[in-house]
Amino acid sequence: MTRKRVAILGATGSIGTQTLDVIDRHRDRFEVFGLLAGSRPLDREARYTIRAADPDAEARVLEMVTHPDCDLVVTALPGARALAPTLAALRAGKVVGLATKEVLVMAGELVMAEAHHRLRPIDSEHSAIWQCLWGEQLDSVARLVLTASGGPFLDRALKDLGTVTPAEALRHPRWSMGPKVTIDSATLMNKGLELIEAHHLFGVPLDRIEVVVHPQSTVHSLVEFSDGSLKAQLGRPDMRLPIAVALAYPDRLPGVVEPLAAAELGTLQFLPLDQERFPAPGLARQAAAAGAPYPAVLNAANEEAVAAFLRGEIPLPGIVQVVESALSAYKGSGSTLEEVMEADRWARDYFHIAAGKVST
Ligand SMILES: NC(=O)c1ccc[n+]([C@@H]2O[C@H](COP(=O)([O-])OP(=O)(O)OC[C@H]3O[C@@H](n4cnc5c(N)ncnc54)[C@H](OP(=O)(O)O)[C@@H]3O)[C@@H](O)[C@H]2O)c1
Repeated sequence: MTRKRVAILGATGSIGTQTLDVIDRHRDRFEVFGLLAGSRPLDREARYTIRAADPDAEARVLEMVTHPDCDLVVTALPGARALAPTLAALRAGKVVGLATKEVLVMAGELVMAEAHHRLRPIDSEHSAIWQCLWGEQLDSVARLVLTASGGPFLDRALKDLGTVTPAEALRHPRWSMGPKVTIDSATLMNKGLELIEAHHLFGVPLDRIEVVVHPQSTVHSLVEFSDGSLKAQLGRPDMRLPIAVALAYPDRLPGVVEPLAAAELGTLQFLPLDQERFPAPGLARQAAAAGAPYPAVLNAANEEAVAAFLRGEIPLPGIVQVVESALSAYKGSGSTLEEVMEADRWARDYFHIAAGKVST
């Protein structure tokens, strides 16, 4: 079997290091072709090893992901910076394992137009839905059901959310992840971004995608079919599983994680989403319904707001407050890459004007 040569964007991060772990355990099937990292040390060599601070980093990343010897690109950079290399890789005919949901939120139409069945989800919910859909026909899908753990503040008194510290918000009860996605999981903006991601990936209308709170994070998501049956994918909360599925599709790699015995499952809870506590998914729905480039405005305002929260500049509820205000203030339209990037810049500028007005 020829080994698949893999480039990893975000190689030192949570998804990046777990991707390297899967590759290292299956060296008969995969080899590392290239690595892009930010500032943490990269302790291995590859055909391309690129640091964010390298003067020619941007050009070399594009060269790496479009190189004829590169077979598969794993996108695991947080945020908007992942869009350009992901689009370039798809345009060059590569298979892309996509962890960075922001890519589909910003430019879902553009990205899907280039995907041609080569885009494989790594987000655990979307991997679950993808696995439930194998062998099924899309027109028999009635509804997608995304599960949300509810994050660390599922039971915190609403009036106390304003005093939550970054350290508390970074302590996710189930998953160990990078800071941006962990804060998104605390506000449930993560689920809002995932709603938009699922809509584009699977072509299912937004009003047929539901969110249900499932604190155990054992059922990674579900699909309801037109005959009334419901299919789910279950597993331990370990990202190596969806990473392995994306790398090896249509094969399954042996022994990726400890099997989950049915007797271990215990009680699984599914609760409706409390929209007052978690307004972010509703806001994401509205942005998606308004069409491009509103989701890019939502995404960029959220990225800036999360960074400001982590610096201690705005309170946790201020994140969604400022995203909502950016969406109301924005007046624009268009779905080309230039229009999306312009909306992204507008929202970042807007954030810096509006952040001072966020109530503390
Ligand atoms: N972690 C999860 O379990 C999980 C689950 C589902 C989806 N996702 C999605 O996957 C993406 C990555 O998440 P993560 O948790 O892996 O993030 P992370 O742990 O924060 O890692 C981010 C990676 O991107 C690199 N990076 C950051 N800024 C960069 C820049 N300007 N140029 C080049 N490299 C840069 C970081 O490098 P340095 O650290 O070296 O600076 C690191 O390698 C996010 O979009 C997230 O929503 C993650």
